[in-house]
Amino acid sequence: MQPGQRSSAKLSLAVSPPATASERREPAIQVSNLSIVFNANRGQLIAVDRVSFDVPHGEFVCIVGPSGCGKSTVLNTIAGLEVPFEGEILAEGLPVHHPRPDVGMVFQQPHLFPWKSVRRNIAHGPRMLGKSAQKANAIADDLIAMVGLKR
Ligand SMILES: Nc1ncnc2c1ncn2[C@@H]1O[C@H](COP(=O)(O)OP(=O)(O)O)[C@@H](O)[C@H]1O
Ligand SMILES: [Mg+2]
Repeated sequence: MQPGQRSSAKLSLAVSPPATASERREPAIQVSNLSIVFNANRGQLIAVDRVSFDVPHGEFVCIVGPSGCGKSTVLNTIAGLEVPFEGEILAEGLPVHHPRPDVGMVFQQPHLFPWKSVRRNIAHGPRMLGKSAQKANAIADDLIAMVGLKR
């Protein structure tokens, strides 16, 4: 890619039908004029160019497009993992500038610590958020029970 050249792949959105009127309120996610530029080997690469969309509460939204069109970059940025960017991202009405505990990402492949038990894998997130080992284990135990894995 030459400096300033755009990725030619097009990004499109497949959005499920709108919620009923009684369910409508402020969108869960609001993306406005999002642009993301990477410093690549041959200059700047515009990976995402002024993308805007809303995700209402309770809707299941797919971002569809060919490889390299910017899908992962958009998702990483909504998760607060990709900065800086131009434009605005609001999650539950609050600006996203860094990872937030209420915004999660589910990866295509499992990313677990193979040397840790199921309980310690689950407790890792709460521990990273500063919870005590006791509190983190209690959270893990609740979640294990919730999905029916309790022995
Ligand atoms: N960290 C990065 N540095 C430089 N270029 C990147 C980086 N991440 C992604 N890109 C480029 O941005 C474009 C979009 O990538 P990506 O969001 O991974 O596409 P998709 O997920 O739609 O396949 C691609 O051209 C990719 O090479
Ligand atoms: Mg991808």
